[in-house]
Amino acid sequence: MAQFFLFDHPLIQHKISMLRDKNTSTKEFRELVQELSMLMAYEVTRDLPLKEVTIETPVATTSTAKVLEGKKIALVPILRAGLGMVDGMLSIVPNAKVGHIGLYRDPNTLKPVEYYCKLPEDIVEREVVVLDPMLATGGSSSAAIQFLKDRGIKNIKFVCLIAAPEGAERVMKDHPDVPVFCAAKDEKLNDHGYIIPGLGDAGDRLFGTN
Ligand code: PRP
Ligand code: URA
Repeated sequence: MAQFFLFDHPLIQHKISMLRDKNTSTKEFRELVQELSMLMAYEVTRDLPLKEVTIETPVATTSTAKVLEGKKIALVPILRAGLGMVDGMLSIVPNAKVGHIGLYRDPNTLKPVEYYCKLPEDIVEREVVVLDPMLATGGSSSAAIQFLKDRGIKNIKFVCLIAAPEGAERVMKDHPDVPVFCAAKDEKLNDHGYIIPGLGDAGDRLFGTN
């Protein structure tokens, strides 16, 4: 059963609106993507396992103190725009390793084209969090997830900032075992596969290209 988590936290909604604004500068855009990723990391890591340890406080000893069990995580941003989400996530899970998958969407066919892949050696042992701010047709994210599954990775989550209904449906249909975390679900795609209202081209806005 596919799981879709939509964030309704006011801080997240406020920052998403600032991100959408065409007058937001590249510097502000980058900072907002980083802050949003950090806020979302809190919920994405909600199911991390804990173990009990013994700790001495200044007044007593407790054997029921809980600490993270140390589950290994790998972040996998989809290049380019996913890169903007890495630092925010790492501020919450600083020991995560980072792999990269390079995909771009062919502007004519809207199909993803792979051009780069470098993953941590022990990635199959890790919980993998795939990052891409935009889930439009779902072609790129679905292909990236399949690419990871083909390498034997079983435990995958997908985190995006803005999703079109078409993309969300596609990923959940192709990968019902992969929970999708999303800050905003928009109205539709336009004829060029851009999310409406969206925020434009995330990679261009993040890196100041056009
Ligand atoms: C954007 C975005 C996603 C993809 C979403 O990347 O970052 O990867 O489009 O579209 P889809 O859901 O229809 O596949 P783009 O191809 O523009 O590459 P870039 O990040 O290098 O700009
Ligand atoms: N990629 C983007 O960066 N923006 C969209 O709206 C769709 C795909």
